[in-house]
Amino acid sequence: MCGIVGYIGYRDAYPIIIKGLHRLEYRGYDSAGVALFDKELKVYKKAGKVSDLENFVKDIDLAGNIGMGHTRWATHGAPSDRNSHPHSSGNRKLTIIHNGIIENYGVIKEALTASGHVFKSDTDTEVLIHLIENIQLETGLDLREAVRVALNKVVGAYAIVIMSSDDPDELIAARKGSPLVIGVGKGEYFVASDATPIVEYTRNVIYLNDNEIAYIRKDDLLVKNIDNTIQIPYVQELELKLEMLEKGGYDHFMMKEIYEQPRSIRDCMRGRIYPKTGKVQLGGIKEYTEKLKNIDRIIIVACGTSWHAGLVGEYLIEEYARIPVEVEYASEFRYRNPIITEKDLVIAISQSGETADTMAAIELAKEKGATIFGVCNVVGASIPRVSHAGVYTHAGPEIGVASTKAFTAQVTALTLIAFYAAQQRGAITQSKLIEYLTELNEIPDLVERALLCNDHVKEIAAAIKDTNNCLFLGRGSSFPVALEGALKLKEISYIHAEGYPAAEMKHGPIALIDEEMPVVFIATKNSSYEKVVSNIQEVKARKGKVIAIVSEGDVDVKNMADYVIEIPQTNEAFVPLIATIPLQLLAYHIAVMRGCNVDQPRNLAKSVTVE
Ligand code: F6R
Repeated sequence: MCGIVGYIGYRDAYPIIIKGLHRLEYRGYDSAGVALFDKELKVYKKAGKVSDLENFVKDIDLAGNIGMGHTRWATHGAPSDRNSHPHSSGNRKLTIIHNGIIENYGVIKEALTASGHVFKSDTDTEVLIHLIENIQLETGLDLREAVRVALNKVVGAYAIVIMSSDDPDELIAARKGSPLVIGVGKGEYFVASDATPIVEYTRNVIYLNDNEIAYIRKDDLLVKNIDNTIQIPYVQELELKLEMLEKGGYDHFMMKEIYEQPRSIRDCMRGRIYPKTGKVQLGGIKEYTEKLKNIDRIIIVACGTSWHAGLVGEYLIEEYARIPVEVEYASEFRYRNPIITEKDLVIAISQSGETADTMAAIELAKEKGATIFGVCNVVGASIPRVSHAGVYTHAGPEIGVASTKAFTAQVTALTLIAFYAAQQRGAITQSKLIEYLTELNEIPDLVERALLCNDHVKEIAAAIKDTNNCLFLGRGSSFPVALEGALKLKEISYIHAEGYPAAEMKHGPIALIDEEMPVVFIATKNSSYEKVVSNIQEVKARKGKVIAIVSEGDVDVKNMADYVIEIPQTNEAFVPLIATIPLQLLAYHIAVMRGCNVDQPRNLAKSVTVE
């Protein structure tokens, strides 16, 4: 969380930085700030969004060919002007932006306070820049060395950029646990939390590794690790395209991303399935095929929406590959003493590839000898880098904070892993595989058809938008879809929503049902259809308002429900890919009608790099 951008070169730094901050705003939007050098070091910062900062500086001369900016998701200290980044040292010669958490800032702050440092904010970041200043004052070290020594003293995660008025021709950047990308131009360099602020200026980037420090001048880059050894940076070419970062005519990124799903699901399958011959190829895990044949168990670790995809994965892998699967919240898994052996495979699912809890769960499982597969969207992110093998979801950049196309791409990738494992372990016949892959290949077209329900969903949204509560119910692989529908609604519309297995309703939630309560059922024509129909009747008997997602042509549920949304009929295995679509649309329209900021819901950030 928090987005950082830096520039050094021959162009005006401010426009590059402010545009970059807009691109990174999905990472946090509590406050924003910039630092620029033009004859002197200037810092401007403001609570609120990046646009509030723009307004604040609109009449100020913002010249300078070196600068940096920050958009914040508050950890230490409330969102306010004084807690906004950049933070400066006591003598105001140094200034820093930071994404991450300095865990031992309390003890350092105490020691610095005792030696006379006065702090202006409540942040851990300000402590770090004072520590660097203090090291310089006490030891006479130059800034490069003082930064290195300071970083050896701090515990926690950081991506930082530092500017100094004593050497205004250099940016110092470093990372541990939080992402940092350096864009390599001709006579200029860019630094950012991800490549989105960089892509329109250069396609050549370096993903800084943990414990590396970059000393960046406009025509020189030196990378060292924290032990002072020179590193040879690996320059790679970006695949990202600029148009992927624009709204493309939609009012919100979320809606654009919902409508991108036929394409993103197809991209995830491209070159990986061969329906005619019944073959699944997954280059990213090929080397681990023997391992996959012999594992005893799969543990899926993830957070939030990715955890919901993991629950769908559990259903698919157990059903088709016949491997026992456990799905764990990464945040719980990492703090238990889980029993993991070398015969376990851990699949870590993460859109951003940066989620702190998921990273920590991977590290724990690795220590205990498990094999790690990453299922990630952001290419080159930390999780794919620490995993032994993996499958990229190829959904393209997801900018709306609420995950949509990343979820369906994760489910697609897990479907491929399930069929790949089934094939390799001989758990499925070739003819069955041909049948499934042929149907899977048609899913993007069915998603396209499911999107046609948009206008009807909008009408339903108008009818229930003022509710305070909503229940989502489903069975089998539609249970995680219910969880995901509830999460989408609560996170963007702030309506309290719960997802439950439909059969669990009578063990408690049924007490909530009255004529005010909308209950969304996933009631497609699959193995548990009749059971779900009975659950719908139980809700109707208590005057609940039923909204049912049904298969095209359904009659029984239509006669009972207050509203039905028809989606194309498909094999049970693929229902989550289709049934999720109307739930995303429902949440979207309700949130828009309630005047909520759907792309940037309050208190949230897209990349959760703190635990
Ligand atoms: C909800 C949402 C979050 C993320 C969660 C994990 O719409 O986006 O619940 O799914 O924060 O993030 P990743 O997948 O990046 O690890």
